[in-house]
Amino acid sequence: MRSVLSLFLVGLLSHACSSHALTFPIHVRSRADVPSAAGRLSARAANGHTLLPVLNTQNSEYIANITLGGREIPVLLDTGSSDLWVTGSIPQTTDLGMPESLSYAVGAAKGDINSATLQFGNYTVQDQAYLLVKNISSFSINIEAEGFQGLIGLGPNTGSVLRDKMDDPKGDSVLARIFQQNTTSSNYMSVLLSREGDPNSVSSGYMTISEIVPGFDAISSMPKLSVSKDHKLTDLDQHWQTYTDVDGLIGPDGNPIKYDSIVPSAPDGQLAVVFDSGFTLPQVPRAVSDAIYGRVQGAEWNTQYGAWTIPCSQMLNISFKFGGQTYPIHPLDVSSSDFNIVNSNGETVCLGTFQPISTSAFSLLGEYDMILGMAFMRNVYTLFDYGNFVEDTSVDLGDPFIQLLSTTNATAAHEAFVQVRLSGTDSTGDASQALLPASQEQHSPESEEEKKQEYEEKVLSRWPEIFVGCLAFVLIVTGIIVWRCCFVRRRKNRAAAAAKGLLPTNNMGSPSSYKQLAGSSTATLVSMQNMEGKHV
Ligand SMILES: *[C@@H]1O[C@H](CO)[C@@H](O)[C@H](O)[C@H]1NC(C)=O
Ligand SMILES: *[C@@H]1O[C@H](CO)[C@@H](O)[C@H](O)[C@H]1NC(C)=O
Ligand SMILES: *[C@@H]1O[C@H](CO)[C@@H](O)[C@H](O)[C@H]1NC(C)=O
Repeated sequence: MRSVLSLFLVGLLSHACSSHALTFPIHVRSRADVPSAAGRLSARAANGHTLLPVLNTQNSEYIANITLGGREIPVLLDTGSSDLWVTGSIPQTTDLGMPESLSYAVGAAKGDINSATLQFGNYTVQDQAYLLVKNISSFSINIEAEGFQGLIGLGPNTGSVLRDKMDDPKGDSVLARIFQQNTTSSNYMSVLLSREGDPNSVSSGYMTISEIVPGFDAISSMPKLSVSKDHKLTDLDQHWQTYTDVDGLIGPDGNPIKYDSIVPSAPDGQLAVVFDSGFTLPQVPRAVSDAIYGRVQGAEWNTQYGAWTIPCSQMLNISFKFGGQTYPIHPLDVSSSDFNIVNSNGETVCLGTFQPISTSAFSLLGEYDMILGMAFMRNVYTLFDYGNFVEDTSVDLGDPFIQLLSTTNATAAHEAFVQVRLSGTDSTGDASQALLPASQEQHSPESEEEKKQEYEEKVLSRWPEIFVGCLAFVLIVTGIIVWRCCFVRRRKNRAAAAAKGLLPTNNMGSPSSYKQLAGSSTATLVSMQNMEGKHV
């Protein structure tokens, strides 16, 4: 029994590791003609502030520069992971001789752990650990052609694989190292992302450390969304995640999209979401994606992309609710014209960006329902407060939290959509744009692999309960066997002996045999807990 249980746990751990790897753009499209962002020039990069400019590559990647070992390197900003890796050569670096591999939804970064001096904005970190990746051919996308040569993970420090491997504070993530340098400043980071092809978008995105982008101070009064900690086995699985409100996803017909969370600890009617700037397309349950696009006239399932396509003229309004606030999604983010897709009639169509969650992103441990990637994150100015995710500081920094300030005004977004997609003529009220009745909603095909994963998730997400159940079963069965073997036999013997007049008959059983039974089962429980503890 014990070896079976330990195999079960090892299986769980390998799933945990693969579900941890949930970052990076899943679909990077070919270069397409994107309307140039004729955005008003932002006067926000005011003096005295450290605003790190964030480059937008066709709404598919958000990139900032770091300087590492003397070389300036464009890196992808990824709130869904916690490690730094770069490719190419670094002039001044120390190879620590520890090979490591970091996996992502689009491939693995393999190399040696190195350390070098890092500059990020105004901050300098000595001996920053990072992975120097020699070979990037294992990625399914051409990273350098996409304009970046590395990735900086901005997730919680506990999620850092390098830190785990090095088992040394020098292995801490970049932001943890920065926050540890000054324990009196607040330890938060904020991100503002631009939208290409939207005449109203900010002209440049920014990232800040421990300060707020000027003009966006209202974020301080937004509700503090607590970071849910649903990881089952290891802190490596911790992400920037929280719950929506009850009925917190409003579909295109203005009604909440009904969906039962797969997260066992999710409060009724709420959904667990991860904010991940490394995903181009938000990953949502299939039923949710169908509810958003399946009632659009002319909607078609695209097998190649594993996503819906709809006519580009179709305006869809959806919104999310967090902490009692409503966050509308810009219709230009609900469908994307950047992918150059044609439907079965040869017409150019737009891609439904809220994609059914891919099998590489699905949470087998049942830790979250959705990954809200860039098409969501463009609609909010986001503040991530690391609180006591940051260790090795003398002060208690409180619980981590997330604040979201909406940057999308539904009315202005409607006007922008009419201008960009409908050449200025508002046809969004036409009969051809009306949603089909709910009874005529189309449903996308579910793969065998997904069905299998759903089943596995149901088991794996409840493993503590199953473990306790198994244990109780073992104890009861052992108890019955021991009772039957010893107690019943002894009683029979006693009864026989008593019948023969050898013993007194007032005794219900041997107390000493009970004590042994109770003692040995407690020992079993303790050793099983130890075993569990070791695996974690
Ligand atoms: C990164 O640095 C290069 C070279 O100095 C510059 O051309 C580019 O605009 C910078 N990118 C960002 C996002 O700041
Ligand atoms: C630490 O942060 C505080 C508040 O932002 C700032 O006033 C102080 O100068 C910083 N100290 C150092 C050593 O950078
Ligand atoms: C979407 O929302 C905008 C702004 O609230 C509104 O003007 C428009 O009629 C809505 N469109 C649809 C199709 O619901």
